Amino acid sequence: MPVTDTLTRPLKDLRISVLDRCNLRCTYCMPEESLHARGVFLRPHYLLSDGEIELLVRVFAGLGVHKVRLTGGEPLLRPGFVELVSRISAIEGITDLALTSNAILLPRHAEALKKAGLGRITVSLDSLDESVFRIMAGDRGSVKEVLDGIEAAELAGFKHLKINTVVQRNINDHTIMDLVAHFRHSGHTVRLIEFMDVGNVNNWNRELVLPSADLLKTIHDRWPLHPVAEQPVGETARRYAFNDGAGQIGFISSITEPFCGDCSRARITADGVFYSCLFSAKGTVLRDRIRDGLGADEMTEVIRELWTRRADRYSELRSHLPRHQQHVEMYRMGG
Ligand code: GTP
Ligand code: 5AD
Ligand code: SF4
Ligand code: SF4
Repeated sequence: MPVTDTLTRPLKDLRISVLDRCNLRCTYCMPEESLHARGVFLRPHYLLSDGEIELLVRVFAGLGVHKVRLTGGEPLLRPGFVELVSRISAIEGITDLALTSNAILLPRHAEALKKAGLGRITVSLDSLDESVFRIMAGDRGSVKEVLDGIEAAELAGFKHLKINTVVQRNINDHTIMDLVAHFRHSGHTVRLIEFMDVGNVNNWNRELVLPSADLLKTIHDRWPLHPVAEQPVGETARRYAFNDGAGQIGFISSITEPFCGDCSRARITADGVFYSCLFSAKGTVLRDRIRDGLGADEMTEVIRELWTRRADRYSELRSHLPRHQQHVEMYRMGG
């Protein structure tokens, strides 16, 4: 029996940030000007080691988690990442192991990741227009590098990628149709994400949020869509299929259509803090307890207790909460 929280939501999904650094500086996540303080990134000894991550995944697997997503920052910057993937993929019970990446380093690692047992890849890509891409990525990287990464993933045998696109009004919304056109017939699924008020440094402003319903209408007018009959329970995206058989797209609408009702996701930061919601203000330090010698059985009880007490539904309550609540940064929390 999976452990359930106060709203009867089972713990099914674990997301681990393996590193808080990134080779991009997306303005909605890690804007360059917010990083001037020295020591914003974690020093290596603060990071969970491979062994510590493995212990935690075993504990979550024992509590009924089958699905693990590795995030960052940019996970591929973590030294020895491929080896970590093979250790996690070997854990009994983990049947769905996924990665979220900006794809820039995939040409170097895609094949090894496949061999190491990685199952799925989600790629972040906000625009195919080079100047828009550069604005959103903080003047780093290029569209070509991301597309090369996607191609490397395809060649390595990763099929059906998810492409995450954060949409900001008057910034990249005019380039969304090109992006959708590009990935129609590719077998990959573009997911259009409403700009969220995660972290404290991304200057979130409701005016920048383009409601998914508006985008859906624009896309539907050009390429008619119908809702997919079987929406996977607990998935963040609401999926639609093109009537002409060109594939699917998804909308992740945390602002206008919150999906806390079936949220089954636990999160662990790169320095081993457990959070029960993307918008939590406070987490529970697990790393130091492991370093103090807490074993798997005791850790299982710690997690069980944390999940049993969980009551988060931030997105549903957003409009009733005070503005400027402190949140953990997205690049720490891992999206
Ligand atoms: P699967 O593992 O394939 O189900 O993917 P996913 O949709 O759960 O994960 P992904 O990392 O691709 O999530 C897509 C985006 O949705 C993230 O980048 C976040 O922006 C957002 N997101 C993910 N989980 C949550 C959540 O629990 N709450 C909110 N508000 N947004 C989330
Ligand atoms: N709003 C919405 N999505 C975001 N992401 C990062 N920051 C935000 C934000 N403020 C997404 C990125 C990436 C994933 C890890 O999180 O697009 O795909
Ligand atoms: Fe890096 Fe992803 Fe954040 Fe962009 S959204 S800065 S790629 S971690
Ligand atoms: Fe889950 Fe929190 Fe996101 Fe709601 S806001 S879906 S509870 S992570």
